[in-house]
Amino acid sequence: MEYRTLRNQNQIPAVGLGTWQVTDRAQMVDVIGSAYEAGYRLIDTAAAYSNEIALAKAIAAHEIPREELILSDKVWNTSRGYEAVQEACKKSLKKLKTEYLDCYLIHWPASMKLYPNWEEMNADTWRGMEALYQAGLVRNIGVCNFKVHHLEALKKTAEVMPLINQVELHPGMPQEELLSYCKAEGIALEASSPLGNGQILTHEVITEIAAAHQVTPAQICLRWALAKDAIVIPKSTNPVRIRANLDVFGFTLSEEEIRRIDAMPYCGGIGIDSDEVEEFG
Ligand SMILES: NC(=O)c1ccc[n+]([C@@H]2O[C@H](COP(=O)([O-])OP(=O)(O)OC[C@H]3O[C@@H](n4cnc5c(N)ncnc54)[C@H](OP(=O)(O)O)[C@@H]3O)[C@@H](O)[C@H]2O)c1
Repeated sequence: MEYRTLRNQNQIPAVGLGTWQVTDRAQMVDVIGSAYEAGYRLIDTAAAYSNEIALAKAIAAHEIPREELILSDKVWNTSRGYEAVQEACKKSLKKLKTEYLDCYLIHWPASMKLYPNWEEMNADTWRGMEALYQAGLVRNIGVCNFKVHHLEALKKTAEVMPLINQVELHPGMPQEELLSYCKAEGIALEASSPLGNGQILTHEVITEIAAAHQVTPAQICLRWALAKDAIVIPKSTNPVRIRANLDVFGFTLSEEEIRRIDAMPYCGGIGIDSDEVEEFG
């Protein structure tokens, strides 16, 4: 396993498990069992995924020691603001049956399309995140789906800038500007939907490079993102894929291969623009 060292010197595994759309409790037990056995320690969830209780039950079912896990959770859009974010975090801690979160992220910035005061709203929510960090309830605070202008706006009032920014990043969506901004600012970039939600695995650039390395298309996508120093959190409920998605440290891509992947057009993923999005609940 590779690790990423955050600006506060805390370490995060470079590969974690995504859990969006895993809501069935029995399935969660199987998924967490396979992932833990394979070596995953970082698990990404969110209040909006409605699976925090299922995740806690799965962790308990496998008797996984809390200190071995890096639990990452997110506050949903309905809990914006200084007080609301702290309340939401406490509810999530209860559901996850834990005293602390390793990572807690704002799921979406307030959309400028809906809120003329989006800057103020994000700043206020962030103050609540800082309070959670200072209280020790959260070891690392961060954001998701923040673009450069969201981060620049936050900078005006933040005492601690986000340690992590989780955004859609995969072949076809290389996030070059945001990636170099985050690197310069000491913000770790975490790739959500690193497999483009499974939709990019048949693109010929990916399949050709996979064949050349005798690995799977998913492994190529993950290796490419890791080469950019991102943290990746692929989701799978299939034990064979769960194992394979972690087995990405035995080969490297050439510069030419990375350039070919960088040049791919957008061909799948979540594709939600955080400036354009209507509030969804
Ligand atoms: N912050 C945000 O706004 C945000 C947005 C999106 C996602 N996320 C996080 O990022 C995680 C990953 O993103 P995602 O769930 O959208 O999609 P993803 O990880 O890019 O792709 C998951 C899809 O690919 C399939 N898959 C996984 N491994 C595979 C393999 N080795 N070969 C072929 N197919 C494979 C999965 O199916 P099987 O399960 O059948 O294997 C699933 O359909 C989420 O679960 C969530 O934790 C965050």
